[in-house]
Amino acid sequence: MLASSEQLLKVEQIVSKYRDVPGAAIPILQEIQNELGYVSPEFIAKVAELTKIPASDLYGIVTFYSQFRLEPLGEYHIQVCHGTACHLAGAEQVTEALEIAVNTKCGSTSKDGKFTLEKVACIGCCSLAPVISVNGKIYGRMTPDKVRSLVRDLKGGDSRGK
Ligand code: FES
Repeated sequence: MLASSEQLLKVEQIVSKYRDVPGAAIPILQEIQNELGYVSPEFIAKVAELTKIPASDLYGIVTFYSQFRLEPLGEYHIQVCHGTACHLAGAEQVTEALEIAVNTKCGSTSKDGKFTLEKVACIGCCSLAPVISVNGKIYGRMTPDKVRSLVRDLKGGDSRGK
């Protein structure tokens, strides 16, 4: 996805706040992540151009810390719990069904920008294992069939207001 001119302007504004701050690479990237929701290769190139910090150093930071995302989240952010209880209750089968239903792998976003899949550790609802969450809403005792029907509903819907 190409960055808009407003996004690049925002990156410039953030960088300019740290003009006289040595070692500001991480705070700059954190603020970009907070303000824009992700740190794309284009944003990294802009930061490198403005700060003269090598882009390879910035990539190193963004790929090292899991808080950073290189691409925007999809409309539906689906987290699949792979904690012990969920793993024992069938998280792998749920994950496989999800990956097929939304046509993307865990750790990435579907081409239509609708779904981001992510494996996560225990999300604290072990009695409902296996558990997934969609934009923060918990769905428990999932099965491949339930996953397929949930994704069908989501494809027909809109995340706003849910
Ligand atoms: S292990 Fe999945 S919610 Fe705890």
